[in-house]
Amino acid sequence: LFGRERLNSAGINLSDAEVLIQLQADLDALAERNWEAYPLIDGKPYAGRPQPVFNPCDQRRQIGQVTHADPEAIGKAAAGALEAFADWRHSPVHARSAYLKKAADLFEAHRLELVSLCAREGGRTIKDALAEVREAVDFCRYYAAEAEKLFTQPVRLSGPTGEANYLSRTGRGAIVCISPWNFPIAIFVGQIAAALAAGNTVIAKPATQTALTAMRCIQLLHRAGIPGAVLQFLPAEGDLIGKHLLTFPGLGGVVFTGSTATARRINQTLAQYQPAIVPLIAETGGQNALIADSSAHVEQLVQDALTSAFNSAGQRCSALRVLYVQEDIADRVIKLLIGTMQELTLGDPGQAATDIGPVIDAQAAARLAEHLGRMRKEAKVLYQVPLAADLRAGSFFPPSLIEIGGIEQLEQEIFGPVLHIVRYRADRLIQVVESINATGYGLTLGIHSRIESHIQSLVERARVGNIYVNRNMIGAVVGVQPFGGMGLSGTGPKAGGPDYLRRLSAERTVTINS
Ligand code: SER
Repeated sequence: LFGRERLNSAGINLSDAEVLIQLQADLDALAERNWEAYPLIDGKPYAGRPQPVFNPCDQRRQIGQVTHADPEAIGKAAAGALEAFADWRHSPVHARSAYLKKAADLFEAHRLELVSLCAREGGRTIKDALAEVREAVDFCRYYAAEAEKLFTQPVRLSGPTGEANYLSRTGRGAIVCISPWNFPIAIFVGQIAAALAAGNTVIAKPATQTALTAMRCIQLLHRAGIPGAVLQFLPAEGDLIGKHLLTFPGLGGVVFTGSTATARRINQTLAQYQPAIVPLIAETGGQNALIADSSAHVEQLVQDALTSAFNSAGQRCSALRVLYVQEDIADRVIKLLIGTMQELTLGDPGQAATDIGPVIDAQAAARLAEHLGRMRKEAKVLYQVPLAADLRAGSFFPPSLIEIGGIEQLEQEIFGPVLHIVRYRADRLIQVVESINATGYGLTLGIHSRIESHIQSLVERARVGNIYVNRNMIGAVVGVQPFGGMGLSGTGPKAGGPDYLRRLSAERTVTINS
């Protein structure tokens, strides 16, 4: 259904000046609105002590308040989701997918609020935020369509015995969805939509930094008809999760997107406290590289590297971190990269002219500054975009270009607008891809080359989940480029791909001897 007969959300046309002016005016009108988030247990607000939420673009600007769940709220949400599963597992798949299609329509209808929230709370530019709403809509429609294919009726299997054999699927139970702040709409909604479509109930735990955006999404999902007991909402601080959210008896599965270290901790907790082997889908980090040989079209390469490294302030797990350039073209590439970096506009992500907003918080900016400090000693910082004085109240980190000797020089994923560049000799192409594989991460890889044999041998050797040839390497489209990695980058199955719902469901074979 996705593909030729296109179901992906159409979004809006930002190249139309009138549309853009209207959009900016509408967003400006929403810029002072105050938002709230609190746990919703069986659809009802759970009271607590609200804490202020500030705009990462300017830490003095409060945008709302959030009440975090306590252990009692987590216990109630778990009990509610487990109880609701008894009925929800028998709900006709068409009813479940109708809710998700309705939710997709509501997300489109409430696009402006979502974009405004996502920009003010998550530091996402307008373009990023619009793309997120589209992706969330796509996830709802795609998983609704996939569920209809998978769950409509039992499959009759042929056999030699004369017995009738039927294979069918049901939900697994109450699923905990733990989502990241870097895609507060798309990944948050995508995880939930998949788990619900497959017949599970859900306990949704948004990232601490983006609970307001998540709350608005939950309200729209509930408004679409999804019962409050079937979709529980728990804004909560990280340290409660391991102890309470992953240990309740009967947990059906966990869907997690975030760091590799946290995924490992979740896995350990499940192994330690759950008697059953609870399935975990983890989509984690990457140490993503792009390899360009001297046949690359240099202007296109520079544009694609820039987009891949700096869009969303580099805060995408798919983002480019290390650009390997064949030495013959390296000087030209560096010169053009610096030239285009000088054109980037840093600023308030809620303004259409902004290319790059803040990073998510002061800790993230401090971690990046620490990395830059280390690189100043151990490598060569080629350029850093200057930071205007009026941005100092926000958690901005200016895009930086650093020349290093090889990917092994980076000890961990650098989650922000930092592009490392490495020169390689033409006869070292295979060693390049092997050193990328040796990091253990395996999320995205870019290739820029016009030499078929180079492309083929890199594609064959690279141990990554998503490869992009002669284009940028971010923004996978639901149902078109199923997304997710291997090794340290995640467990699979791929989000927005045909196998995702299978992992979230249980299979049953019934054999009837007549
Ligand atoms: N799916 C996103 C991308 O492709 C990353 O999470 O950029």
